[in-house]
Amino acid sequence: MKKFFLFSIGQKYLMGVTGLGLAFFVLAHMLGNLLIFAGDKAYNLYMHQMVNMKASVIVQTGLLTAFLLHIILALILGVKNYFSRSEKYARQASGWKATAWYQKTLIAQGAVILVFVILHLITFKFGAHYEVVYEGKTVRNLFQLVIEVFQKPVMVIWYLIALLILFVHLFHGLSSSFQSLGLSHPRFDSWIKKLSLGYAVFVTVGYISLPIYVFFFV
Ligand code: HEM
Repeated sequence: MKKFFLFSIGQKYLMGVTGLGLAFFVLAHMLGNLLIFAGDKAYNLYMHQMVNMKASVIVQTGLLTAFLLHIILALILGVKNYFSRSEKYARQASGWKATAWYQKTLIAQGAVILVFVILHLITFKFGAHYEVVYEGKTVRNLFQLVIEVFQKPVMVIWYLIALLILFVHLFHGLSSSFQSLGLSHPRFDSWIKKLSLGYAVFVTVGYISLPIYVFFFV
């Protein structure tokens, strides 16, 4: 029983850590992508540096591990919560909104984000390979690919939908991560909620600005 309890706590802890790691990635990735506004050279050279830096393999392995762990743990916790009726009642009794729509749809949100990331990698990472030369150095022209992709209305609409779901997931997921890591306290709960909301808004607005800018202004 004790082992099971510790395993459960460990799972939630790991869920929190991987969630925070992924939340940090989406922020860093969004900030890098904002270089689209600085033009093709700045964007392409930045992306080239990211892909070719020495730590790239470590970053990509860490990212993939965090993604897989997050998904597997979410499924285990989801199935466990579904079957442990008593736990459900305990949560409702404690006033935690166990029936809030964004909590009930966490797994569905995650599934859409997973589909989004797979299609995103197919489109960009493994997509058309254009090249451009800057001062004698040949690099991949990802700028051209981004422009091409976001000139298609269907892609813009799909990105807007997926990014809104990412917003809900980030907002709720961040506050949950703090809870899972034991960092929440009734006195700070409203600050954690505000911080998570601010973070999710900042990241989402940053991402959404890209397809909107390319579609309407490029
Ligand atoms: C409009 C917004 C976005 C743009 C323009 C964009 C652009 C790109 C581009 C050009 C690449 C390829 C980089 C390469 O080949 O090395 C890439 C990779 C990637 N993107 Fe995005 N992205 C956007 C949003 C997102 C979002 C919201 C997520 C996650 C939820 C995401 C996750 C990833 C991942 C995991 C990779 C692979 C990173 C790696 O291999 O190191 N992207 N993105």
